[in-house]
Amino acid sequence: MDRIIVLGGKGGVGKSSISAATAVLLSDLLPNKKILVISFDMAHNLSDLFSTEIGNKLTKLNDTGNLWGIEPDPNIYAEEYTKILIEKMKILMKRMPIVGFIPQIEEFIDTTFTADSIPLALKNAMFFQKILDAGDLSQEILFDIVVVDMPPTGNMLALFEIPEDQVKVVLKYSLNFYNSIRGAIQNFSKIFKKLISPFADDKKRRELGVEILKMVQDLEQRGERITQLIHDIGSLRLVTIAEKPSFQEIKRARELTRKYIDLHGVHVNLLIPEDAAENCDFCDNIYSTQQKYLKEITQEFINLKIWESRRLKKEPIGINGLRDLAKEVYKELSSANEILYP
Ligand SMILES: Nc1ncnc2c1ncn2[C@@H]1O[C@H](COP(=O)(O)OP(=O)(O)O)[C@@H](O)[C@H]1O
Ligand SMILES: [Mg+2]
Repeated sequence: MDRIIVLGGKGGVGKSSISAATAVLLSDLLPNKKILVISFDMAHNLSDLFSTEIGNKLTKLNDTGNLWGIEPDPNIYAEEYTKILIEKMKILMKRMPIVGFIPQIEEFIDTTFTADSIPLALKNAMFFQKILDAGDLSQEILFDIVVVDMPPTGNMLALFEIPEDQVKVVLKYSLNFYNSIRGAIQNFSKIFKKLISPFADDKKRRELGVEILKMVQDLEQRGERITQLIHDIGSLRLVTIAEKPSFQEIKRARELTRKYIDLHGVHVNLLIPEDAAENCDFCDNIYSTQQKYLKEITQEFINLKIWESRRLKKEPIGINGLRDLAKEVYKELSSANEILYP
């Protein structure tokens, strides 16, 4: 993988549209590279933008076959993960003295340990697994460039924090699970009026225990790899409109994301075109205010690339609509590197 382009900013400023347009343009400019656009917003809307049902599966988005999209569902990932864990837990429990003969034990495990019991934070972290999968050799398609459409700033930050915090989350989660199993075993032993040592030495059981621990550790290591990858090849671009609230928001976002990812540019989107302002008083007022903020934004982010894009007359929908938006955002380019490494 060469580059992970991350688009952040307030809601409604055009993050999803610019993410999609960027991916479309890169796929046109770089026919030999595989591009993936991925939505990390629970309220996915890439399908609407491309007018194609995407959902939780890699979906081809152009005829050339080098542009793909996905709207991952972290619940599905969590379910797959817990399914394997549950199977292992069941075998482990059944190997235990007495406990293994209690018919309810399977039901107990099924109800205690469901995908619903996984903390939301951990589930969201599973969004990021898709980035790793996109560059994993185990996958059929290897992606060179990933464009990430982030949720608004607050939720974006929570996502960045998760892979770093995954160690804590996983440990807490495993401990909770271990405690509930232990509690259950103690209750069972009370019923049998007999003290049983639930984790008595038994080679097979120990091996299974190690396997379960390894699953948890693997997840943790993936979190560390993601954090590293975002540090190494991640490139954040903040999207704003030329108005106060979203300008303030990207200033805050710059500070809050600093330790996770490098910020390389700012998109100022939905600007009123100059000729429209000339023909209407109302538009002229908005235009003047926007120009004032545009100046302030440019000064505030003076060391960064600023991409200005006007509001298009036509809604940028479908692959051609997104191409039009990309043209408006990036103007005349001499090479894709201007997008990749501004
Ligand atoms: N430059 C533009 N010109 C015209 N419409 C735009 C432009 N950028 C975004 N839009 C429209 O603005 C709305 C919000 O854009 P969207 O990409 O969904 O924002 P976000 O992902 O930040 O919430 C959408 O209806 C989109 O089609
Ligand atoms: Mg969006």
